[in-house]
Amino acid sequence: MSDEPAPTDHHKRRTVLKAGGATAIAGLATAALPTDALAAPAEATSTVATGVPITLKINGHATPLVVEPRVTLLDALRERLDLTGTKKGCDRGECGACTVLVDGRRVKSCLTLAVMQQGHEITTIEGLADGDDLHPVQEAFIRHDAFQCGGCTSGQIMSAVACIKEGHANSDDEVREWMSGNLCRCACYPNIVTAVRDAAKEMRR
Ligand code: FES
Ligand code: FES
Repeated sequence: MSDEPAPTDHHKRRTVLKAGGATAIAGLATAALPTDALAAPAEATSTVATGVPITLKINGHATPLVVEPRVTLLDALRERLDLTGTKKGCDRGECGACTVLVDGRRVKSCLTLAVMQQGHEITTIEGLADGDDLHPVQEAFIRHDAFQCGGCTSGQIMSAVACIKEGHANSDDEVREWMSGNLCRCACYPNIVTAVRDAAKEMRR
């Protein structure tokens, strides 16, 4: 009779695990994943990418389009509808380059989703002129040379149209205050203020 202790269940398990370790690891690398595990992420991705059919009223025209719910009004205008007059500056609500009118009110289109604007009247810079006749604010910006690079200009003009209609263009200081959400990196502010004041007089006639 041997003095060796009889292997316990614990010893047996360790031996089996040691011997089979390499095989088990190799098996893990090559084993096919369950079908469910592969299907789940694909399903999640397709939910994110699904477009929603909407109709936006832009410059007087009902415009149907399909957008993902996360698409901003700015990207819908520029990337989906080719209305590139509305500019993307900061894309986070700081510069005002993307200003459009929604029901006559100034809105930074980078801060609102396209799907939220159904049923509203959206006006962009492309909808401001009446055929070949420019809007008085557009005329005034040209007359007073109120731009250099033009990056901020469509936003400035849309903002000025609303500012004048709101009755906030009665003094230079008032224009500066109520247009303060529209920045100009070229620092054309004196000319912009003059243009807005001049256009306001024109629009009151
Ligand atoms: Fe919208 Fe700057 S691009 S505020
Ligand atoms: Fe260049 Fe205003 S004209 S940013």
